[in-house]
Amino acid sequence: MEKTLLIIKPDAVERSLIGEIIRRIESARLKIVNLRYMKMTKSVAEDFYEVHRGKPFYDELTNFMSSGAIVPMVVMGDNAISGIRELIGKTNPAEAHPGTIRYDLAVSHTKNSVHASDSPANAEREIHFFFPKEQV
Ligand code: CMP
Repeated sequence: MEKTLLIIKPDAVERSLIGEIIRRIESARLKIVNLRYMKMTKSVAEDFYEVHRGKPFYDELTNFMSSGAIVPMVVMGDNAISGIRELIGKTNPAEAHPGTIRYDLAVSHTKNSVHASDSPANAEREIHFFFPKEQV
């Protein structure tokens, strides 16, 4: 069993898509084992996306991620990291395949509805960022 972190981003929370996204995760036979509803400050968003500091989209990304409520969650299952990445589709919704969360629901490259960890090391870091007591 593997664990990964998924965040429902402000654009999806704003459009009442929490239930729809959770339904897709559960339909893929993945389990949600921890979940929060919260708002990040700009400085917390900057820490979370530290790896992108200095990139042209960093300011827009961290402004957006601190603009409204988010729903971070820990998702568990066999190959959960790659499974969730397949379910959400490519980062840019314009390049995502039909049937993926980003193709079906996202608005733009920044307002792309969800984030998910892309490797075991990042999953561990990102899970602990939002859920410090979670066993990974
Ligand atoms: P996410 O999976 O949250 O990880 C970093 C985010 O930066 C990404 O989704 C996008 O929302 C956002 N982003 C905006 N522009 C770009 C870009 N040109 N390349 C990569 N990520 C981008």
